[in-house]
Amino acid sequence: MRKTLAQIYEDRVAAGVLRPDPAQHAVLEHLETLRDWLDTQAVRRRSLLGGLFVRHPTPPKGLYLWGGVGRGKSMLMDLFTESVEHAPKRRVHFHAFMQEIHKGMHEARKAGVEDALAPVADKVIREVRLLAFDEMQITDITDAMIVGRLFEKLFAAGIVIVTTSNRVPEDLYKDGLNRALFLPFIAMIREKLEVVELESPTDYRQHRLEGAQVYFHPARGSRARIDAIWSDLTGAAPGAVLKLPVNGREVELPRFANGVGRASFWDLCAHPLGPADFLAIAGACRVLILEDIPQLSASNYNEAKRFVTLIDALYEAKVRLICSAADVPERLYIEGEGTFEFERTASRLREMQSAGWGQG
Ligand SMILES: Nc1ncnc2c1ncn2[C@@H]1O[C@H](COP(=O)(O)OP(=O)(O)O)[C@@H](O)[C@H]1O
Ligand SMILES: [Mg+2]
Repeated sequence: MRKTLAQIYEDRVAAGVLRPDPAQHAVLEHLETLRDWLDTQAVRRRSLLGGLFVRHPTPPKGLYLWGGVGRGKSMLMDLFTESVEHAPKRRVHFHAFMQEIHKGMHEARKAGVEDALAPVADKVIREVRLLAFDEMQITDITDAMIVGRLFEKLFAAGIVIVTTSNRVPEDLYKDGLNRALFLPFIAMIREKLEVVELESPTDYRQHRLEGAQVYFHPARGSRARIDAIWSDLTGAAPGAVLKLPVNGREVELPRFANGVGRASFWDLCAHPLGPADFLAIAGACRVLILEDIPQLSASNYNEAKRFVTLIDALYEAKVRLICSAADVPERLYIEGEGTFEFERTASRLREMQSAGWGQG
């Protein structure tokens, strides 16, 4: 007998991995309906001549799960996606998915295809029955102008879509350029997806980090403990490069999973990145793990200056910072030009270690 999602959830509660949360539990029922439908259809299609003549029947409504950070949206979506046994499925960060779409369209255009979206959407439709998007967020006009047609095709093909977001659909692409053209997309979301707010009172991410050490020094020897934090927050995901658009360029975060970014000081501060890059990174991460902050001085003044800008961006965006450094914040930059300016950074680094930091 296969376990229901509620049973899987209860098992994790019993194992002490999850705390029982009625708001989370309530979402499982809807996901169970989707899972049953997906697997039943998949088995049926397989038994009928490989599905050659089978049209895709209309699925039940998908799910748009939204709410505050750390409420367990990604966890629930993963629990669901992992438990779908037969239907071809894909779980992907929304932003990464849209980048693939743009890349595919670019190639199609180069090949002279007039409607570049069509072959790209067709490929997705051939490959999966379930698309699980994490962190749907639309800030870019190029995304905003194609999601409507893209989702229309996906829905028409009977693809089940489940997505998480920090915003209610009506707030997607808020204040964006040409927003009127985007409104039909919101209406489509409302029509095709069950919109559910995950109203859990607990930010579990904060909870998991509560009382945890988040500043390690010296950096040497802290790798294993930082790996453990990464595993805990991402469910041991391997993580992938996250490319963020910044003024027509891209800035790269070497590793990203489930709202958690991971990079070394050198990745972010030894390259000519500026405030816009750091803002993009701060906007994409709830937690940033920054490793190997060295002793700073006049000899690495440029790196130090970028580090100050990075910390400011993270501070403003209330990103939770976990780092390993050569020394305590106050002793990171003790000689040479810029020591005075660094005092504020040191104080911010202190404040960002405090228990309630980043809440709300
Ligand atoms: N009921 C729960 N009990 C304990 N930990 C939880 C619970 N729900 C979620 N978590 C953990 O809290 C962290 C944040 O959850 P996540 O699903 O990433 O939140 P969101 O996607 O809503 O921001 C993850 O490490 C997740 O495993
Ligand atoms: Mg999440």
